[in-house]
Amino acid sequence: MSLSQKTIDIVKATAKPVAENSEAITTRMYEILFSEHPELKELFKNADSDQHKKLASAVSAYAANIDNLGVLAKAVEKMATTHVRVKVLPEHYPLVGVSLLGAVKDVLGDAATDEVIEAWKEAYFFLADILIAREKELYAQV
Ligand code: HEM
Repeated sequence: MSLSQKTIDIVKATAKPVAENSEAITTRMYEILFSEHPELKELFKNADSDQHKKLASAVSAYAANIDNLGVLAKAVEKMATTHVRVKVLPEHYPLVGVSLLGAVKDVLGDAATDEVIEAWKEAYFFLADILIAREKELYAQV
């Protein structure tokens, strides 16, 4: 599977407003995630107070490099290692995805057209699949 050119174009075109608002987006994402799925708070109990900044910079770096994902290999490895340490599971990804897309919509308002949300959805799940596959390998090693 690869991302469609249309998705790449839209994500690149919206990378700037997303990066500029990335902290507001990730703060809102956690609000949505924890209100819909309070049981997930447990996973984040040891997270730094700046965890949302790490997620924000990961999302921004991803958008900026969407057509050159090799650049992100080291970052992906770090995320996967951390996720396995805290026991993130494949079924958590759609929950975070829905919260993240809801947050993009809330923060970007009218700029987050259906087309933009659709592109970010495809891009999110593309990255999610990469992380899930790597995490599966790491879980198999322990
Ligand atoms: C594509 C989706 C995701 C991205 C881009 C992402 C990104 C990140 C990043 C950049 C870190 C910090 C890694 C480090 O520097 O050590 C992190 C840690 C973490 N992520 Fe994710 N993540 C994603 C999905 C998820 C999901 C689905 C969950 C589960 C609900 C999750 C839960 C966590 C937790 C609990 C931490 C560690 C917090 C801590 O204890 O420091 N992430 N993630």
